[in-house]
Amino acid sequence: MEIWALANEKGGTGKTTTAIHLAAALAAYGKRCLLVDLDPQAHATLGVGMAVEDGRSIAAAFLDGAPLSSLIRTSSAGFHVIASEARLGEFEEVAERSLQPERILAGALERLVSRYDWVILDCPPRADGVLTANATRAATTTLLVVETGAFALQGALRARAIFEERAAASGDTASLRLLATMYEREERISREVLVALQARFDEIMLDTVIRRHELLREAVACGVPASELDLESGAMQDFDALANEVLGRTLPNTTLPRPIVARDLALHPDRD
Ligand SMILES: Nc1ncnc2c1ncn2[C@@H]1O[C@H](COP(=O)(O)OP(=O)(O)O)[C@@H](O)[C@H]1O
Ligand SMILES: [Mg+2]
Repeated sequence: MEIWALANEKGGTGKTTTAIHLAAALAAYGKRCLLVDLDPQAHATLGVGMAVEDGRSIAAAFLDGAPLSSLIRTSSAGFHVIASEARLGEFEEVAERSLQPERILAGALERLVSRYDWVILDCPPRADGVLTANATRAATTTLLVVETGAFALQGALRARAIFEERAAASGDTASLRLLATMYEREERISREVLVALQARFDEIMLDTVIRRHELLREAVACGVPASELDLESGAMQDFDALANEVLGRTLPNTTLPRPIVARDLALHPDRD
């Protein structure tokens, strides 16, 4: 079972949007996929159109010891979801009085190993909290999701330092990868940040870059994955490329233009 934790130091970098659409793209390839919303703000829950129901969320696992299997719901896009709710925020305080609170999720997920091929963990917007620590502890890969905008490089460097320090202290074995999102070719800052990320994170950066798509903004606001609005969109093309890359596949033969590849852009930032 692959477990990917999508994380960063700050909000608004595209973690939740990527979590939902990567889960949908993997499900479209027949992968049994579970999305776990670990953010008390519950944006992933709302983004897949689910109500935030008190009691049946990941908070019950962290605060009451409920088994994950009792919390699973089915989304319309072919993957399973464990929702979140505001009560999850109480865990930060409870954890201060607990022994090894960062191990709860890893232990709970072990019981689901035979049920899923992929688990996507959508983290809250901080790298150092106990919820994100649970995710990186459980993960086989921590995916640092970085928007190609102002101050993104500083945030990404800080997050990498926090994750590497924690891994060294706790023996976490997750590998660290980086995904650039919200790329806008027409914007100079976006091009420059992508080149800077490539220079500083070359060895861990995924080739796929998620571009900025208005459709994604609309989809998340409407509570439906973009695949339900427009299967042929550029947004779906980007997440299809991402799914192929994380599955270790080469891109299928297609008449669509090849998705943007970071390595090419770093060499030719002004190229179309
Ligand atoms: N690739 C994208 N193209 C356009 N808008 C995006 C994209 N990714 C995220 N957004 C928008 O940016 C905002 C923050 O994204 P979100 O995924 O919630 O980030 P995070 O989970 O890191 O806080 C949301 O309004 C979302 O709709
Ligand atoms: Mg989020």
